[in-house]
Amino acid sequence: MSQAQDMARLEALLFVAGDPLAIEELARLLEKTEEEVEGLLEQLKRRYQRDQLSGLVLRELEGAAALATAPEHKELIEAFYGKTRDQKLTDAAYETLAVIAYNAPATRAEIETVRGVDSDSVVARLIERGLVREVGVLDAPGRPVLLDVTEQFLLDFGLKSTKELPPVDLLMYDTVIRITESAPGDTARRVAPRPLVIAIDGPSGSGKSTVARFLSEHLGILTLDTGAMYRALGYKALRSGIEPSDAEAVRVMLASTTMEIDLSDRVQKTLVDGEDMSPYIRTPEASKAASDISTLPVCRDYCVRIQRELGKRQALILEGRDIGTYVFPDAPVKFFVTASAEARAQRRLKDLEKAGIETSMEEVLSEMEERDRQDAERELAPTKRAEDAILIDSSRMSAAEVVDAMIDVIRQKEREQPMWRTTPGVQAE
Ligand code: DC
Repeated sequence: MSQAQDMARLEALLFVAGDPLAIEELARLLEKTEEEVEGLLEQLKRRYQRDQLSGLVLRELEGAAALATAPEHKELIEAFYGKTRDQKLTDAAYETLAVIAYNAPATRAEIETVRGVDSDSVVARLIERGLVREVGVLDAPGRPVLLDVTEQFLLDFGLKSTKELPPVDLLMYDTVIRITESAPGDTARRVAPRPLVIAIDGPSGSGKSTVARFLSEHLGILTLDTGAMYRALGYKALRSGIEPSDAEAVRVMLASTTMEIDLSDRVQKTLVDGEDMSPYIRTPEASKAASDISTLPVCRDYCVRIQRELGKRQALILEGRDIGTYVFPDAPVKFFVTASAEARAQRRLKDLEKAGIETSMEEVLSEMEERDRQDAERELAPTKRAEDAILIDSSRMSAAEVVDAMIDVIRQKEREQPMWRTTPGVQAE
């Protein structure tokens, strides 16, 4: 089939679908690869841009595409449909949409915290207009509903995904700080404290995963293994025949990748496109792919956004390489756990043997040193001890001893700084 025919078929599908069609689905219907479909979409988009005689545009969303009418025909389309969608959004609605878009998935209580007023009726109107939808419930007392913006919102605002919103890092807490600073004492006290983030960084085999797990049980808070996220993406790249260090190919891959972290039963599930990758990501190949893909800024942005989202909605221990320096530089408690290369290689060898993977000490040591070098020398967010991180050399310590040392530090900090659990600017009760 010629390229012109492919383009015509693609256009026909988008026309009848009306709603956004997933690139994966288009690839299946057209019997093409997703990359080929992306190429066709790009051409179709340019064709509409050039064609003065057409009133259509191609809108791309994350992993999907849709045909839409060009913005200059808005009034004409509204006249055709009547006045159902022409009521202008109020300032309150815009503000609420922004809060949801930047913090999604967000609960009604979180929206209220940021805006400082009850927002239930505004949210209800946004749901009615198809700009906001319920996406699940938060695993917390009362099981509050989580809200996100819809594809309609992205289409209306000309965005591919909410990742294209201008960066307003941790908008929710900055706004909380502003609100609390300007609020009288009583209101300030009512604002929820910032969730506790504990950062545990260090090179591979330093034992940080084990201690994070123990600490999590001791403190009763969840732990996030951030390495598993890079491993899962590295593994997806390998499985899709993509070189994990190929920035452009990985960018395209990530545009149609969904990642969800399920911490509900305390054993992390790292779901990529709905599939739990946990069983596949501990092999030496997945380790190397993780280290390679994690050097790419596009991949780090992807993972860090999720990590920050998770860390700002609940108390969380995050273990990785860059948590204290880059992901949560303001974390009130930071540890950097390390150990001699031999001790780390021994631990790694044991883990691999347990997983039934045959290897030797020499192989493990050389693979580990190579990976550590790459992780520590990369330009963006390399493995590094934050200046205010407590250094723990675990070479001659058991995991229980490391956890005891960590708990001592946490208790000590609590005594010295009773405010460290609250958002800066909030007065203590
Ligand atoms: O912790 P781990 O061995 O599972 O991590 C796998 C790779 O992921 C590691 O070689 C570097 C990368 N990584 C990262 O770049 N940043 C993190 N926060 C965690 C891991």
